[in-house]
Amino acid sequence: MKKITIAIDGHSSCGKSTMAKDLARELGYVYIDTGAMYRAVTLYAIEADLFQEQDVDTEKLKAEMQNIHITFQFNPETGRPDTYLNNVRVEDRIRTMEVSSKVSLIAAIDFVRSAMVAQQQEMGQGGGVVMDGRDIGTTVFPNAELKIFVTASAEVRAERRYKELTGKGEECNYEEILENVIERDRIDSTRAVSPLRQADDAIVLDNSNLTIEEQKDWLIRQAKDRIGEE
Ligand code: DC
Repeated sequence: MKKITIAIDGHSSCGKSTMAKDLARELGYVYIDTGAMYRAVTLYAIEADLFQEQDVDTEKLKAEMQNIHITFQFNPETGRPDTYLNNVRVEDRIRTMEVSSKVSLIAAIDFVRSAMVAQQQEMGQGGGVVMDGRDIGTTVFPNAELKIFVTASAEVRAERRYKELTGKGEECNYEEILENVIERDRIDSTRAVSPLRQADDAIVLDNSNLTIEEQKDWLIRQAKDRIGEE
């Protein structure tokens, strides 16, 4: 059976990665979280002291790009891949509020995007991948056989993020998270390079009122139908 490419794009914190991971597992495909790659670059920039408040030293970052190597390794305990930055596992450190509040700035830089897109195209070249991000169906794999665009209201997404962070014991504030969600949407949708937008041939999924199980079933059905047509 042909192994297709599945692009899952959409707004932040709307459960894209959970559904993409579950789908990849169900199909026996490789899951690639492209947001984790931009987060890993952001973590590198924070640790290399390239930020002054919300400003990043782009000249220095450009020179450092050759020293930033991002890989994924399957974690048999969770059944999902973990993100590695220069061979160090950073899966938890890339999910903090500090990284979340700076990642949109890093993801708007053209040389960062071209480096990440090239790596993503290489990782997914043989098909059999579920890739989630913002520009997968528009820029990374414009010919993907199945494209899903996921969205949910900002309030629902902030609520989910709040539960996720408090569940991990991180101190946080709902209003601050909501502001972060809205601000990230604004930056992601208005940036000059590869802004977040729905591909013309994407299927829209608004999951504001769906349970994880319901959206999982819906997605698996879409994928199996599409694979059956190939
Ligand atoms: O999906 P996420 O929240 O982990 O993504 C982190 C940030 O990276 C988010 O601000 C959008 C950006 N991003 C992007 O610009 N392009 C992608 N393909 C994936 C993520």
